[in-house]
Amino acid sequence: MWRVKPLDAIIATAQKKALHRSLGPIQLTLLGVGAVIGTGIFVLTAAAAQKAGPGMMWSFVIAGAVCAMAALCYSELASMVPVSGSAYTYTYAVVGELLAWMVGWALILEYAVAASAVSVGWSGYFMGLMKSVTGFELPELLSHGPIWTMNGFLPHADISHGLINVPAIVVALAVTALLVIGTTESARVNAVLVAVKVTALTVFIAVTLPVLKTGNFSPFMPNGMFGPVGTSGMGVIGAAASIFFAYVGFDAVSTAAEETKNPQRNVPIGLIGSLAICTIFYLLVAAGAVGAMGAQPVLGLDGSVVAPGSAGFVAACLTPEHTGDLVCSNEALAHVLRTINWPILGNALGLAANLALPSVILMMMFGQTRIFFVMARDGLLPEKLAEIHPKWKTPWIVTIVTGVFVAIAAALLPVGQLADVSNSGTLFAFFMVCVAVMVLRVKDPDRVRPFRMPGVWVIAPLAMVGCAGLYFNLPLDAMLVLPIWGAIGLVVYYLYGYRKSHVGRGLVELHEADVDAPPPPVPDF
Ligand code: ALA
Repeated sequence: MWRVKPLDAIIATAQKKALHRSLGPIQLTLLGVGAVIGTGIFVLTAAAAQKAGPGMMWSFVIAGAVCAMAALCYSELASMVPVSGSAYTYTYAVVGELLAWMVGWALILEYAVAASAVSVGWSGYFMGLMKSVTGFELPELLSHGPIWTMNGFLPHADISHGLINVPAIVVALAVTALLVIGTTESARVNAVLVAVKVTALTVFIAVTLPVLKTGNFSPFMPNGMFGPVGTSGMGVIGAAASIFFAYVGFDAVSTAAEETKNPQRNVPIGLIGSLAICTIFYLLVAAGAVGAMGAQPVLGLDGSVVAPGSAGFVAACLTPEHTGDLVCSNEALAHVLRTINWPILGNALGLAANLALPSVILMMMFGQTRIFFVMARDGLLPEKLAEIHPKWKTPWIVTIVTGVFVAIAAALLPVGQLADVSNSGTLFAFFMVCVAVMVLRVKDPDRVRPFRMPGVWVIAPLAMVGCAGLYFNLPLDAMLVLPIWGAIGLVVYYLYGYRKSHVGRGLVELHEADVDAPPPPVPDF
């Protein structure tokens, strides 16, 4: 289980692939911004406000800082090992097969569950826009999943306010269909969608900041740094653990390392640049939302602190006193604009979110199919899964399987819980990437590193502490998903991958030019 896939074999694959180095710093930064801005800022701002109140502004800074440190570790490995599979591949080469499998297994949580979360976020904006423009409302039972509570150790679904999220299923399956027939986002479409998102956020900031009321910022941290005793995942740090979702996706930049001109300079510019731009936008948007309409948490009917999405929270949001609160909205930013008497701009922002969020779903599902593909190619999953469709040239089986699971999760779970679960997998993968970068510095110090991260012995450990700190401040249920999912993964590994692994069976093949891999998401800049 400690067997590694020889780094030289992986690098030889990459060298054969020899993609044209055409990306400059601006295109890389655009790529990052395109993959990152999505449900996190458009939707989860409400959940972050419920956890931290105006103090969520600190949450954006903390989550952004952890991501920036992890991003440097990603860049060093991505520039050395620029092949498909990202954190999974690095761990396979450096730490060993079992942990690589666990990282790949955790990446399913990152990508597939994130795709579900963004689908639910899209649904909230879609329903809000329909209602505002046409007055049409889907019945509640068809526009929300149930509310989940724990009954002892068993989850219990309360279907009094929702049963199934039909719009989320539709968007998830539509994106699946696009991926099956081989749609990848062209650079031009990506640039247009980035412009749509950035314009929407800029307009939001320009309209809200002038009407900011300083009184709305107080109390600034109603739930403190860690939330009251007895709650999990609340307060500024709890909100940081959730809003971390808003930064997920920047690894798209590191995976483009081999298509980058002068990666030593441009990869860190692209990564840090896109994270910095997003952080600034997020902070200004959060300040605008808080300042223009106020963002204090609602209390449960018994006066207790309630987590977003919980039964107590939903009950409080249904009272006339709170129905219009920011924290209760499924389309936070559009809701702010409508509330401050900019209904047309609110609808335009809703339309922008509806146009742009499917590309984030596409990126996430694409990442998922590619991870599955590489794991199947290594023999850790059935090879049948990675079969390429003769006409469309896409890994159609794995794409359809992924799409069905993404749609089911989107149908039944709320956006905040999905995002938290996705974060738990992502934080584990980031943690392992930080381990891998240090192990490799010791094991193989002389290997050429096209990008050598500065201050590795300070930044990598700090990033690990940051990832662990955010993980332990997720709500308890999201935190528990990772070990349970990991235990299932271990069983699958010992029943299947352990025996079928190509490395284990001595079959370390070079993949000529990676021709069997599906195409990259953002080709030919
Ligand atoms: N960062 C992406 C989003 O917020 C996943 O939607």
